[in-house]
Amino acid sequence: MIGRLNHVAIVVPDLGAAAAVYRDTLGANVSAPLDLPLHGVTTVFIELPNTKIELLHPLGEGSPVAPFLEKNPSGGMHHVCYEVDDIHAARDRLMAEGARVLGDGEPKPGAHDKPVLFLHPKDFCGTLVELEQV
Ligand code: CO
Repeated sequence: MIGRLNHVAIVVPDLGAAAAVYRDTLGANVSAPLDLPLHGVTTVFIELPNTKIELLHPLGEGSPVAPFLEKNPSGGMHHVCYEVDDIHAARDRLMAEGARVLGDGEPKPGAHDKPVLFLHPKDFCGTLVELEQV
């Protein structure tokens, strides 16, 4: 069911410093910061030949990544995103198998304006999983 690894997301305490590490130290192609108020994050995308890295920093009050940063003050890996062809079919299959979909279960537009869903980390080896319909 899942396809390509779309991105790995890393929450960081300082978006500018993290972007500089990827751009200057690792020599990667780094995007400008993008505010996503609907998701409560500012993102920087790093394009790699086979996938992307998504740097995340809290935006505004009640950001969903703020508690993660409190627990991990120097940052850390937050989620992996797998591509699916049909996000509703994927959700229905996962829920039928007992997996927990976060929120109201309805896909929302993600960082690339494509529908995304998040799956409970306890059902997926301790890792928060994002599904993105491509
Ligand atoms: Co993501």
